[in-house]
Amino acid sequence: MAEEETLVIAKPDAVRRGLVGEILGRIERKGLRVEEMRLTRIDRDLAERHYAEHRDKPFFGELVEFITTGEVVVARVAGERAVSVVRPLMGPTDPAMAPPGTIRGDYGTVITENLVHGSDSPESAKRELDLFFG
Ligand code: RTP
Ligand code: MG
Repeated sequence: MAEEETLVIAKPDAVRRGLVGEILGRIERKGLRVEEMRLTRIDRDLAERHYAEHRDKPFFGELVEFITTGEVVVARVAGERAVSVVRPLMGPTDPAMAPPGTIRGDYGTVITENLVHGSDSPESAKRELDLFFG
């Protein structure tokens, strides 16, 4: 057994479009548990810390701008190999290229508005969970 925790964020587009239940429902039906969650607004400072690894990327400004445009739902999700189980449920970063059956593949077309965030490693998960639930 490898019980893990990961951070999932239903991004502002998902909240605006009423897709929070759909996103968390898929994660729950897969067999993971939502252990803590809240509707919140991410401010610029928290967004820049959360996405610090992308600070030098050309899309950083747009990324921070978007994640701060509206309310999000942040969730602490737990279960067997939770970090690596969530990522394929989300699908590839660009929804236009994401296969049907994934969250991004079923609901998105635009790379910035890709509905959901999931930590990409156990180390990222720990850092991100400390930011949002620490
Ligand atoms: P996330 O961190 O949100 O779970 O997504 P990810 O791991 O699949 O993608 P990552 O490489 O970490 O990128 C973070 C977010 O930046 C936006 N992005 N825009 N315009 C672009 O080329 C571009 N590339 C990435 C996406 O919204 C992505 O989720
Ligand atoms: Mg990422």
